[in-house]
Amino acid sequence: LELQMNLEEIEKGGYDHFMLKEIYEQPRAIKDTYRGRLLADQGLIRMAGIDLNMEKFLNANRIIIVACGTSWHAGLVAEYIFEDLARIPVEVEYASEFRYRNPVITDKDVLIAISQSGETADTLAAIKLAKDRGAFVFGVCNVVGSSIARETDAGAYTHAGPEIGVASTKAFTTQITVLTLMALKLAKAKGVFSETKYREYLTELENIPSKVEKSLESNTLIEIIADVYKDSTNCLYLGRGYNFPVALEGALKLKEISYIHAEGYPAAEMKHGPIALIDEHMPVFVIATKKGHYEKVVSNIQEIKSRKGKIIAIVTEGDEQVKELADHVIEVPETLESLTPLLTTIPLQLLSYHIAVMRGCNVDQPRNLAKSVTVE
Ligand code: AGP
Repeated sequence: LELQMNLEEIEKGGYDHFMLKEIYEQPRAIKDTYRGRLLADQGLIRMAGIDLNMEKFLNANRIIIVACGTSWHAGLVAEYIFEDLARIPVEVEYASEFRYRNPVITDKDVLIAISQSGETADTLAAIKLAKDRGAFVFGVCNVVGSSIARETDAGAYTHAGPEIGVASTKAFTTQITVLTLMALKLAKAKGVFSETKYREYLTELENIPSKVEKSLESNTLIEIIADVYKDSTNCLYLGRGYNFPVALEGALKLKEISYIHAEGYPAAEMKHGPIALIDEHMPVFVIATKKGHYEKVVSNIQEIKSRKGKIIAIVTEGDEQVKELADHVIEVPETLESLTPLLTTIPLQLLSYHIAVMRGCNVDQPRNLAKSVTVE
């Protein structure tokens, strides 16, 4: 047992938990994921899985994304990116729903399956259904040679390295990295992107690892905020546009490792009911970065404040306006709107981690959960 314990300590690399180590590995994991693919100085993105199947993607009626949990949230981010940048229709489906609802699938559909483990039963079943009905299936997995990787027609691996913590962190950001590279490559191939805009994205993608590093520097502040809200019984997470899926992901992180009930919502949806929940006991985590409907999110914050909700805002560094309104602000560096999720998710990962630790929860192996749901 002693040897086992020592081995685990070595594997944790000095961190208290695998999850914290994996949160801090994200700059390197993102770099490893785009290495050999993102050739910014040449204005190139090299992805064999796309290059060899370019016609499938360019002639597709639509892209259907199937996944579960955090991977499903990465799929939602991809929907915004693919439609906004590559102008390809996308729909995102829970694999468990898609496989049973007798969906309309044709050979003009491209299905993208996202799975860290590559073993999720519902996602694997959705792939088989789609293939039986003639779709071309592309996989985004983190485990080489996994069942999903072997079942798909083509794919692109994330190079996040083994993700031990049950709560997915570096898998999420590396999935978004792969999906962004795919969308940019298709946008270029479709000619919907000027060379200048294309190169702006490639260059900014190369800046992301250092901007993630910068976002991680808020850890001490986040620990202080975690202490304030660690005994909450309910939390709300709000975001708009590209940050709406990040709000969902932030809520899932908190639920699965601290067991506090949390709900992610599109910020504008609050007035259609959930704002009735707001009182002085309800912490509301709002992603209010400069890009993407900023003024509207600010007015959503004002609505919450006037109902005495506690506001913790993720803002772009240097933001003054939200600072006046929120109870706490956590800054992330500025980046392109479609790359914002890679940064805004970082403080929410750390926040959930610290709250879970303060509550004495088993962060790496939360109760009732498995790392990969290989059964229905
Ligand atoms: C996320 O933190 C959870 N571990 C869970 O929702 C996970 O994302 C889901 O089970 C999908 O797993 P996969 O990516 O391995 O398919």
